[in-house]
Amino acid sequence: MRVKAVECRDVWMVYRNFMERGVTALKGVSLDIENGEIFGILGPNGAGKTTLISVLSTILIPTKGEVRILGIDAFKNTKKVRERVNITSGVRLPWGMKVYECLRFYALCYGITDRNVIEKLIADFELEDYRNTRFDDLSAGNKQKLNLARAFLNNPEVVFLDEPTANLDPDIARKIREMILQIIKEKHTTIILTTHNMREAEMLCDRIAFIRDGKIIAEGTSEELKRFTKANERVIVGFKKPALSSLPTTYPYELDENSAIFYVDDAERFAPKIVLELSKAGIEIEYVKMEEITLEDVFIELSESN
Ligand SMILES: Nc1ncnc2c1ncn2[C@@H]1O[C@H](COP(=O)(O)OP(=O)(O)OP(=O)(O)O)[C@@H](O)[C@H]1O
Ligand SMILES: [Mg+2]
Repeated sequence: MRVKAVECRDVWMVYRNFMERGVTALKGVSLDIENGEIFGILGPNGAGKTTLISVLSTILIPTKGEVRILGIDAFKNTKKVRERVNITSGVRLPWGMKVYECLRFYALCYGITDRNVIEKLIADFELEDYRNTRFDDLSAGNKQKLNLARAFLNNPEVVFLDEPTANLDPDIARKIREMILQIIKEKHTTIILTTHNMREAEMLCDRIAFIRDGKIIAEGTSEELKRFTKANERVIVGFKKPALSSLPTTYPYELDENSAIFYVDDAERFAPKIVLELSKAGIEIEYVKMEEITLEDVFIELSESN
């Protein structure tokens, strides 16, 4: 049987603060992630994303539940797991260390003395021009590249990335995504990343889990997740005058004062029919727009319905 990258069973995490009750950040999370997948964990602030990848990467011991990474029990054999995984979590690296020194330092922590490993990562993450720049003097994008380079030092089979493109401008974020894709194409690494960015999840991830309030509320490929919604596409019709309280149509819709959204499976096919029905009823149309359902729509719909 093929060993999975991650098997997570009924994981609960309660942060015990000074307060008596504590915070329950994970409420029975179960997940399976195959080797070689890019898996996205999507969710709003405070949903439990960072807590989940901290547990999966052995940084946090959960209150309850089982985690196996590459078939190894993560809490009985933590050291073995740590040899084969890595994580970037927006952690600040030593502020005064230069790029090369920093990678050398972390390489030695893993017992890696081959300087070629560092050189290759400096090249892969385009850090040549900054090898003598101190961490604190790097731009946000280069700090993130250094963080990523550090995460690939021990040639990990599974890498956890906590919001790899958060707070970066769109160009740098795109570049970082390309770098991640390139490096995993070469190394076949399993990547588990968290993000708020639906487009990023859609672009990078083979499968996605939506997490909210410590629970996984949906999981699948972005295409599968989109099937959770009312329809695949929508037609938006704007009216010249405020419309009636209901529309003379057979298609499901939501009505606003000056527009209506129709949920259909094929917008190009149904838009003319909708327009015809409305025009026949004497409704004057200002504009018609067609849109595909996005992951964001799915997320909003799931958040409202759960
Ligand atoms: N060390 C901690 N002590 C107490 N509570 C914590 C701690 N870390 C996180 N929490 C709480 O646990 C919950 C989940 O937090 P977590 O950081 O995992 O969410 P997140 O999805 O990563 O959020 P964000 O998108 O803001 O990064 C939140 O209610 C948070 O306040
Ligand atoms: Mg977080």
